[in-house]
Amino acid sequence: MDKNPVIIALDYGDADAALALVKQLDPGLCRLKVGKQLFTAAGPRLVAQLVKLGYAVFLDLKFHDIPTTVALACRAAADLGVWMINVHALGGGAMLSVARAALGDAPDRPLLTAVTLLTSMGETEMREIGLQGTPEEAVLRLARLAQVNGLDGVVCSAQEAALLKAELGTSFRLVTPGIRPADSAPGDQHRTMTPGAARLAGADFLVIGRPITHAADPMRALLAIEQELLNNSAGEKL
Ligand code: C5P
Repeated sequence: MDKNPVIIALDYGDADAALALVKQLDPGLCRLKVGKQLFTAAGPRLVAQLVKLGYAVFLDLKFHDIPTTVALACRAAADLGVWMINVHALGGGAMLSVARAALGDAPDRPLLTAVTLLTSMGETEMREIGLQGTPEEAVLRLARLAQVNGLDGVVCSAQEAALLKAELGTSFRLVTPGIRPADSAPGDQHRTMTPGAARLAGADFLVIGRPITHAADPMRALLAIEQELLNNSAGEKL
């Protein structure tokens, strides 16, 4: 099992709120995700601060633009010292390939993952923008495009993890949101999976927000998830 498969989504509107949560955590036990809301409010300075505190940071800005612009944005993100960044696979092969090239091959380069089809999109939304086939077909097609252009993996629903691992191999990383421990509220997530089930399905990293950030004791919630994952991996070895 990867060390620290849990990535905590810091979905906050300002740096102080994010740092108040982070102070209760431990960089040896989790990674952090900074998305568009927090990044727009608090900027690269907060990202650099989190990196300095010892956290592996996933900068979830889902770049999607002309290839040169995306490549330069990826380079700027890498210079912040983050562990993972992402782009939209819908930007096309040329965009994916130059984004990957911009990161170079140093062992400490950030991982580059792609969003395939947003999980908010079903067949109706796909038809609106001219995409054919089922969401599952689009996810697989876009994940393959990411893989052939050298990306390290994709962000996907845990429901798609088994198919993607079978088709794309075990070293292609799968990052899955929509994770809910059995005892937590689904909120606005629809097709959720427990941490253990997601790992068994092939997820490498689990993005978890509210079940930890809204918990009365976030560290305790994280430790309970880690324990569930440990119990599961012990089960896998039997
Ligand atoms: O609080 P919760 O666990 O639902 O947070 C999930 C995080 O993963 C949020 O930051 C959300 O934006 C992100 N995400 C998601 N579904 C996707 C892609 C990202 O929930 N398909």
